[in-house]
Amino acid sequence: MNNIIISPSILSADFSNLERDIKKVEPYVPWIHIDVMDGHFVPNITIGVPVVESIRKVTKLFLDTHLMIDNPYSFIDIFSSIGADLITFHYEAALDKTLQTIEKIKNNNKKAGLSIKPDTKVDEIEQYINEVDLILIMTVEPGFGGQKFIESQLSKIEKIKKIAPPNLIIQVDGGINNKTAKLCINKGANSLVSGSYIYKSANIKQAIEALS
Ligand code: DX5
Ligand code: ZN
Repeated sequence: MNNIIISPSILSADFSNLERDIKKVEPYVPWIHIDVMDGHFVPNITIGVPVVESIRKVTKLFLDTHLMIDNPYSFIDIFSSIGADLITFHYEAALDKTLQTIEKIKNNNKKAGLSIKPDTKVDEIEQYINEVDLILIMTVEPGFGGQKFIESQLSKIEKIKKIAPPNLIIQVDGGINNKTAKLCINKGANSLVSGSYIYKSANIKQAIEALS
């Protein structure tokens, strides 16, 4: 259809039927988005290492792994070794270890992503934009699926787009549905994470197609 990468978030899947729910989206998307949360960086606990390892065994989809954890540097080797393809971590969690963390991901031959929460300005991560494969602009406060899209984040997408090298993937995550997706694409986003909109729809194929 077009070159927008849709990455369904399995946070909205049924965790007792993860394989079944991954297979539901598999024919229509290249990526699957896995939200790793530690109860410290965000006020929720979700998926960890053993689950990602199991997911790797049941799908060939590109594993888009979103680490919402403190001290991401310490977990890069393990997530790399169990089959994550892209590892996105939060600038707010890494701070002065940001470059080291990016380098560790690259040394493991994985794609590197850097994410910012809604209150973090683009200026703070501008210096890393040429070092990573993907920038993730959170369009909700990280921690939970099913939240409302924060419109004020749209200008950040535009700002990133203006300074981005041609191959940078600009991803958005949080409150993405058929309407908010268009707003993000118009500003320059080319990867959309969507959880509840896809998994709660009556027709998953149509929901995915309506995003781009
Ligand atoms: C939130 C997660 C998201 C979440 C998105 O912290 O990073 O990936 O699953 O869910 P929706 O699409 O329902 O907002
Ligand atoms: Zn996410």
